[in-house]
Amino acid sequence: MDQRPIGIFDSGLGGLTCVKKVMELLPGEDIIYFGDTGRVPYGTRSAETVMKYVRQNIRFLKTFDIKYIIIACGTASSAALPLIQEEWDIPIAGVLEPTCRAAAKATRNGKVGVLGTQGTIRSGKYEEKLMKLNPQLQVTSRACPMFVPLVENGYLESEATNLIAREYLLPLKEQGVDTLILGCTHYPLLKPMISKIMGEGVTLIDAGAETAFHAKEYLKEQGLLNGQLQGRVQYYVSDGVEGFTSLAGMFLEKEIQGSVNDVAIENY
Ligand code: DGL
Repeated sequence: MDQRPIGIFDSGLGGLTCVKKVMELLPGEDIIYFGDTGRVPYGTRSAETVMKYVRQNIRFLKTFDIKYIIIACGTASSAALPLIQEEWDIPIAGVLEPTCRAAAKATRNGKVGVLGTQGTIRSGKYEEKLMKLNPQLQVTSRACPMFVPLVENGYLESEATNLIAREYLLPLKEQGVDTLILGCTHYPLLKPMISKIMGEGVTLIDAGAETAFHAKEYLKEQGLLNGQLQGRVQYYVSDGVEGFTSLAGMFLEKEIQGSVNDVAIENY
């Protein structure tokens, strides 16, 4: 048993889709969440800049004596893993590995699509991992730069979002992918729309949720579960406490509970 909290971070609100699943699967865990709302989006930045942000975010989370870190961000996972795991003395998990394993297992026709930010798709990391798991897979990737700002602003069902989503998704549909990785933790909020465009036979793989499943397995295996009945979550953001608080419920699918505080992340 280990009563230290789990640290989870993302560029903004997207990582809350992972927090939601961790709370469901591991209700006894204390969580420290950091959303880098002052520097979102990460997806349009260089890998070097994202790496610098990741190091600062981890230094900040480490001040809480955490036992495990989840990089609940496809972009940061793509830019920082595996290098970052060698730099720290605690286990750090990203979204890539669990998500690719789930996709490789789910596909029936071997055609897998990957959606992600520009940084994620440019890195080619999802594709690389999928091919390692199964070299027979046919992987088609697509950067969706408009999705994060649309989601962060609550445009989940608008006509504009639908037009953009069709533009991104129709080529993948034409390819005949039967499994589609939502490789950015913001994208699950667009699941109903994506599912409607792709059609019923296409399995959507939620990166945040898959990473939460993996966290549960890992902490159990390592004897690191908390053991208390009800954990608590503390949220930190690098800008806009009020904006984060008002939108968080949309990602958590329930009202946010727990404190939300500001942190000057550039000091870490
Ligand atoms: N949620 C992040 C991800 O999973 C990216 C959002 C961003 O561009 O900052 O990739």
